[in-house]
This record gives sequence, C-alpha cells and structure tokens, in this order.
Amino acid sequence: MANYTRLPVSFRHGKGCWLWDDAGEKYLDALSGIAVCGLGHAHPAVSHAIKEQADLLLHTSNVYNIELQEQLARRLNALCATESVFFCNSGAEANEAAIKIARRYGHSRDISHAKIIVMDGAFHGRTLATLSATGNSKAKEGFAPLVEGFAQVPYNDIDAVATYSDDPNVVAVMVEPIQGEGGICIPDENYLPELRKLCSDNKWLLITDEIQSGIGRSGRWLGAQHSGVKADVITLAKGLANGVPIGACLAHGVAAKMLGPGSHGSTFGGNPLACRAALAVINTIEQDDLMRNAAVMGEYLKKGFETRLAGLVIVKEIRGQGLLIGIELNTPCAELAKKALDKHMLINVTAERVIRLLPPLILQQSEADLIIETVSDLITDFAGQNT
Ligand SMILES: Cc1ncc(COP(=O)(O)O)c(C=O)c1O
Repeated sequence: MANYTRLPVSFRHGKGCWLWDDAGEKYLDALSGIAVCGLGHAHPAVSHAIKEQADLLLHTSNVYNIELQEQLARRLNALCATESVFFCNSGAEANEAAIKIARRYGHSRDISHAKIIVMDGAFHGRTLATLSATGNSKAKEGFAPLVEGFAQVPYNDIDAVATYSDDPNVVAVMVEPIQGEGGICIPDENYLPELRKLCSDNKWLLITDEIQSGIGRSGRWLGAQHSGVKADVITLAKGLANGVPIGACLAHGVAAKMLGPGSHGSTFGGNPLACRAALAVINTIEQDDLMRNAAVMGEYLKKGFETRLAGLVIVKEIRGQGLLIGIELNTPCAELAKKALDKHMLINVTAERVIRLLPPLILQQSEADLIIETVSDLITDFAGQNT
C-alpha cells in the first residue's frame, strides 16, 4: 500500500553504524532505523543470540511458560524498578496495553468513562486507541470516529494538567519523557517530578512512553530516570531487541495487578527469539558501557553543531539528551533528508522543521565528526538558498 513516502535507496547489508546499498555504496546511519538499532547493524552479540535461538526454538505460545520471557522480564523489572511485564511486538501494542491497564484501573475505582490526559505533539502509535492518544492532527486525518477518553493538553505545562484535578473521570496521564516525533522536545527539569506528584495526589497512573527515549538512548535506561521519576506504567519497544520486533509494557504497584488471566494477550508477544535478542541487547549495553557513550557522544555532537552553526539565523535551537538530538530550523526542511541521503548520510526531519539525529549508541568520535560536518554543511547550504 502507498502509506509510506520512501526515499530512493535500498540497503543490502550493514556493519556497526554503516549501511551498504544494492549498488555497494556506503552510508553513515545517523538514524538507527528510527531509534531501533542502538547496537548498530549486524552486532555480533545479537546475531549470535538470534542464530543460536533459531536452532533451538522460535515460538511455542503464551499458553506455556517461556523461560527467556521470564528472564527478560526480571532484567527489565530490575532496570526500571517495576514488578511485572506484558510483552507484545511493537510500540503501539505496548501503549495499547498501558491504555487498557488505565481503563481497568478506572473500573476498579468505579470510573466507567475513564479519561487519560495526553499531550499536544505526542506520538503513541497508529492503532486506533494509540492514534487517538496522539497529538498530531495530520496522523489522525480521515480516521474518525476515534477512540474516546483522551483529553489533550499542551506539553511541558503542568498547570494545564492540574486543571483536571477536579475531573472525577481522569485515571491516568500518558507522556513521553522526551517527545521524539514531536521534535525532540525536552521538558523543563521540574515538569516530570511535578507530573508525578500531581498523579500521586490525584490517584492517577503516570504512564511514560519510553518507546523512543528508552533502552539507553538518552544516556540512561529510561528518559525519566534523568529526573528521578518513577512511573506506574512504562512502555518500551524500538531499541529493545535491535530490530527484532518486540514491545513491552512494564508496571508496578496497583497498575501491575490490572491484567489478570484472559484479560489481554498476544500470539507472538515475548516469544523466545525476540526475548533472546533483547537479553543480548541489554547485556551488551551494560558490558560495553554504551549509555555512557551515548551521553558523551550526544554532548560531543551538540557542542560540534553549536560551534559549526553559530550565528546561522536559520537555526532556532540545537537540543538533545544522549543520542536523541534535534536541530530546529525556523523553516520547514523536509527536503534535507533526501539531500543528506545524496551525501550518503541517513537523517530524518520530524515536526516539519526539526532535523532528528538518532545514531547508534556505539557511535565513535570519528563518525560523530562526519555527522557534524555533513549535517552542518547541509544546513549552511540550505540557509543560503533560503535567504
Ligand atoms: C514515543 C513513541 N511511541 C510509540 C511509537 C509507536 O511504535 P511502533 O511504531 O513500534 O508501533 C513510536 C514510534 O515512533 C514512538 O516514537
């Protein structure tokens, strides 16, 4: 179907931060399949885990115990300070589970028309419920009637959320600790802690969508860990298994008890192959200190861009945390993704005017230098054409 606008290239193989197309041309991947391949391409630990598991067992069913799923759940619970995990195959499904948990939580409190507070500019997925929770009107176009039960407020505006304190139907707040699709938006330092307090005071669940910001990308396992905030429900996907489809909805406290037998499920969710790959990813991030690398390389990239782009009026802001980096221009710049491709560099433009960089967590300084040089040159040329 014609639902994707594709760039004219097709990749055949990859190694580390690099990809090769079908004509043998080499490209630097500064996007990681949109925050998926944190360990880069063809990482030996992941390849080995997948190959070995393929020879053992791919799939049984969630009607049986799955030891690797339990191992992965224990690892995730330890890293995220949660108690239980539901596994699925994508980010949208992880968020669907979170929304269903919030609805059940509402019913447990005799709230039959549960409302979840969501944010302008948010992106939570493309299924009907997650689309309804998404704060991007273009993504919703033509899909009405949407799922009811979401109230949208401006991001990074605690007062806007607080106005719902008197609304008896609110059961949860759903938020990205760093908005990805919305343009790499990082809230004020006190926003998430205040949101946590507001949720606790009002008996609302705090749901953090860490699908783009999680698994080391921001320099910590979770984006919310930078502000010491612990959510009731956390969703993960993208970087969790480096390209093998997986999603996870983690919960603790009352939220961890909402889905009983038969209340939710997934045929493929948490199968041995995906869990084995995810365990290899987590082990490698830990063993190779990749979160520290993400933090160091992220700062290096930001400083490099600040130096190279200083004084350029077209550049509104350079921002980021770890290897989630956005360069906001003061004009739409979607064409820059193709222009970068022509220079053998993969980048992306989101929210119309934000150049988004999500390189692998294994990025080396020489590769960061190439990203700074190539992207800065592109922006400088673009600025010349737009004056
Ligand atoms: C923050 C966030 N949530 C949810 C999703 C949806 O994930 P998926 O495409 O795996 O369904 C995305 C995808 O971009 C995302 O960035």
